[in-house]
Amino acid sequence: MSDGDGDGELEARLVEQETFEPSEEFVEQANVSDESIYEEFEENWPNAWTRAADLLDWDTEYSEVLDDSEGPFYEWFADGTLNASYNCVDRHVENGDKNRVAIKWEGEHGDTRTYTYQDLYREVNEFAAGLRDLGVEEDDVVTLYMPMVPELPIAMLACARIGAPHSVVFAGFSADALATRMNSADSRYLVTCDGYYRRGDPLDHLAKANEGLDGVDHGIDATVVVDRLGDDGFGHDLKGNQHDWDDLLADHQGDRVDPVERDAEDMLFLMYTSGTTGEPKGVKHTTGGYLAYTAWTSHSVLDLKPEDTYWCSADIGWITGHSYIVYGPLALGTTTVMYEGTPDYPERDRLWEIVEKYAVDVFYTAPTAIRAFMKWGSRFPEEHDLSSLRLLGTVGEPINPRAWKWYYKHIGDEECPVVDTWWQTETGGMMVTTLPGVGTMKPGSAGPPLPGIDAKVVDTAGEEVDAGRAGYLTVDKPWPGMLRTLYNNDERFIEEYWSEYSDPDADEWVYFPEDGAKIDDDGYITILGRVDDVLNVSGHRLGTMEIESAIVGVEGVAEAAVVGGDHEVKGEAVYAYVILEDGYEGTDEMSDRIVAGVEDAIGPIARPEQVIFTPELPKTRSGKIMRRLLEEIANDEELGDTTTLRNPEIVEEIQRKVQE
Ligand code: WT7
Repeated sequence: MSDGDGDGELEARLVEQETFEPSEEFVEQANVSDESIYEEFEENWPNAWTRAADLLDWDTEYSEVLDDSEGPFYEWFADGTLNASYNCVDRHVENGDKNRVAIKWEGEHGDTRTYTYQDLYREVNEFAAGLRDLGVEEDDVVTLYMPMVPELPIAMLACARIGAPHSVVFAGFSADALATRMNSADSRYLVTCDGYYRRGDPLDHLAKANEGLDGVDHGIDATVVVDRLGDDGFGHDLKGNQHDWDDLLADHQGDRVDPVERDAEDMLFLMYTSGTTGEPKGVKHTTGGYLAYTAWTSHSVLDLKPEDTYWCSADIGWITGHSYIVYGPLALGTTTVMYEGTPDYPERDRLWEIVEKYAVDVFYTAPTAIRAFMKWGSRFPEEHDLSSLRLLGTVGEPINPRAWKWYYKHIGDEECPVVDTWWQTETGGMMVTTLPGVGTMKPGSAGPPLPGIDAKVVDTAGEEVDAGRAGYLTVDKPWPGMLRTLYNNDERFIEEYWSEYSDPDADEWVYFPEDGAKIDDDGYITILGRVDDVLNVSGHRLGTMEIESAIVGVEGVAEAAVVGGDHEVKGEAVYAYVILEDGYEGTDEMSDRIVAGVEDAIGPIARPEQVIFTPELPKTRSGKIMRRLLEEIANDEELGDTTTLRNPEIVEEIQRKVQE
């Protein structure tokens, strides 16, 4: 278990936990400011969840909040029907807000596009008509392999409109990763983009998409390509079943598509995420529970109001972007900001320039970004007027108290509450965090479980641990935003999340998120990091097995072990220990080939920080690789017990190589 923050631990031991309170001014205007909400959910569970469902417009009212007869295959608001696109678009137009801005988009070059809810309505309808025209039917999975362009949320909402689940694949993922996901979801439709800009240069995305399509085992019915680059494009000709986005919209100009009435439990989307095996997991989210949950947490935690300008700097290719750029904020009728580029282009003040330009009220980002801002220095935010900000949030990994306080001071001017939100792809939305209008903030600790969330910290036997002791985070009761299963794999769903602490014979199901945690006397939970073989690199989840199998796929590699080492900005960095086959040498060229192999199989985010060649890996007598030791070596820590090793002599040799 890695703490992710050595000095945070030390700090915690040396000084008493500092606490911060939201200002009176914040509390007065907060959507939720009464602590009785916790009691309300406890006493009236699960029916209190109607609070979340009431934020939506239903076509058919549900008669039962929760059906728990088939745990852990829980159903929420099951006989209700609704449409997510209607809830995120049409109803705001109908309610007289057609001219409110839905999406403020900022390109890397500073080019901008603005979509009012009316604009969004028009384009979502036209694209939905286009998708139907291409043959997409209800329940067909449409893969969206797109960068941060407005067409991505438009395509998501168009899919939702016709009841076709989307599967968004992060644009930074490789061609192979795209093919794996399309094969797994049996997806025959792809929406993609010619390219996008990174630090001033156009990137050829379509070449990667086409290569991915070549790796799809089944037929492809149609591909739609957004022209983002214009004259900067790479001149690819569209093939027979490939259509230009603009042409398709032009063919359907003015078309309207009635939102399909979906059952609450119908799939809204699939999102692939990494696990402990080499195979990514297709997390299934549904229409009613997910949308209600993201709307509710956007309302209660992000405190979003329709008149707010809100910015989440994540990429829509991850769950954070799905829940808190697209579905939650748009369901509430807020203005959501999207930015195409990186925080340091053209200068390191880019994000603050955008906050000032759009007078952003609520800002949500990741600790890895905050650590980078800290490193760059406070003069960049100081160049800008950030006084529009009311609330700040973080997500993705533990935030150390120092980074928390820097964010609070230099971005929030000590006036904005900071919510440290713990959640996962699988949970659909935030689970453990303070309610900014209610709770005391404790830097470094995410906070108590949200109302209605039954999170606990337990020992290996499932007993709650004493305050201050490390244990494992579990969630006892279901919640509306939870994943329903892994796509086409109910068995793995149970095995991955419900096998550790559940008692199936007693019909007692406990969700295990694979995080270590500790809890204090006030019930505040501090997340200590993953306890499985999953790394958290810059807030992105990567399976060590996935990276290892990519490395072993490189010619000349016999065996590989990947672990996470502490990294100042990324949180964790990938360290790869590699054994070569006879006749191959650990040269720089070999190391480059390994890095390239990982980039091809997964993408640049998984790139090893260091490749260490070794004749052997430290193994126990039973032949298991001792990863703990490899982690300690990567982190330059004192080594723990090596007496159970079969080959203790190798440890020193590896240590020397890492330090070279
Ligand atoms: C894992 C989930 C949820 C969107 C981003 C990542 C870690 C997430 C926190 C936090 C400490 C956190 C956990 C979790 N994590 N938020 N506030 N404090 N750790 O989604 O890729 O599904 O990863 O991210 O380890 O299990 P994901």
